[in-house]
Amino acid sequence: MDIAVGLKAIEPGLQDYYQLPPETLDERIAGVKAKLSDRLLILGHNYQRDEVYKFADYKGDSLKLSQYAAQQTDREYIVFCGVKFMAETADILTTSDQKVILPDLAAGCSMADMADIENVETTWQEITSLIPESRITPITYINSSADLKAFCGEHGGLVCTSTNAEKIIRWAFDRREKILFFPDQHLGRNTCRRMGISLDEMILWDPAQPNGGNSAEAIRKARVLLWAGFCSVHQMFQPEHLAYFRKQVPDIKIIVHPECSMEVADSADLMGSTEYIIRTITAAPAGSRWAVGTELNLVNRLKRDNPDKEVFFLSPMVCMCSTMFRIDAPHLLWSLERLESGSIVNQIIVPEADRYWAKVALERMLELA
Ligand code: 13P
Ligand code: SF4
Repeated sequence: MDIAVGLKAIEPGLQDYYQLPPETLDERIAGVKAKLSDRLLILGHNYQRDEVYKFADYKGDSLKLSQYAAQQTDREYIVFCGVKFMAETADILTTSDQKVILPDLAAGCSMADMADIENVETTWQEITSLIPESRITPITYINSSADLKAFCGEHGGLVCTSTNAEKIIRWAFDRREKILFFPDQHLGRNTCRRMGISLDEMILWDPAQPNGGNSAEAIRKARVLLWAGFCSVHQMFQPEHLAYFRKQVPDIKIIVHPECSMEVADSADLMGSTEYIIRTITAAPAGSRWAVGTELNLVNRLKRDNPDKEVFFLSPMVCMCSTMFRIDAPHLLWSLERLESGSIVNQIIVPEADRYWAKVALERMLELA
């Protein structure tokens, strides 16, 4: 768990913000935004709760937000309503004068935490003792820590998002014959299968086992090595949930995020990033019916914003990203009022040692995107 969770109790003054009624929080957030004006930019990921999402100057999926952050060279403060890997990405892509703030440092990503750099380095040694480095490209999903992005950049690899994974994997196969894909096995597997790569060309790499749990022969043979990470939110969607909707709701269309399992992705009608899901349902004809397999806050917003369509949440369980949910109106106001008073709290600073190569890995992606 992120060390910052343990520090929460000592964040000075934050508790007082929880005593404020919602209208006061709204008024004061709007007031600081107006005062800081062009010095401030608030970015909001599509999974954020409405109470903070409504204050974002720019909203979107990981790709859109990283592209936008890279263009905002004149904003002094970038307050990121999202999770830590997104704020780190913004810090890497902005100038050294700009400050990126994550309103709650405990807003991490459990999937990103599944690929720590020590295990990655050990894996690389194991693989490159069997295969020359020049034959394999490391690719990391943007849902990863800055040190893993730096590792990929330094070893000729790059970053991808849920929007551009296929393009990035094609780029890698144009250069080298194998890929090592971190940390989400599902995004890697679902994308490669849609590109026509069969399951027997892929192996799963479990970092807890020697050689990832694979024989030397299997490692030499595989084209795709998938790190055994996953998203705990998206793994809650199950094939029986799709079967239920197909049976109960005539003409239902099922759309899911590529972090869902292969069985779910295979039975869905459509698959794509959060931005793709929003665009598709917004553009769908009135009266159409949709079951959506992604985070609950986003699906609830889709329901509200599309009253002419029927939008269902794909799982009977509550699949919420609990770390995204940590960014609430009290944290947002607290961090903004600290900025206004000249003290910066929760600044995300990527260490110099990781910054250069992580930027290379991100820029390779942005050039292709
Ligand atoms: P998107 O880039 O599709 O918004 O996904 C980010 C994410 O964390 C999904 O779990
Ligand atoms: Fe990470 Fe999953 Fe939350 Fe996305 S939904 S930020 S992958 S834990």
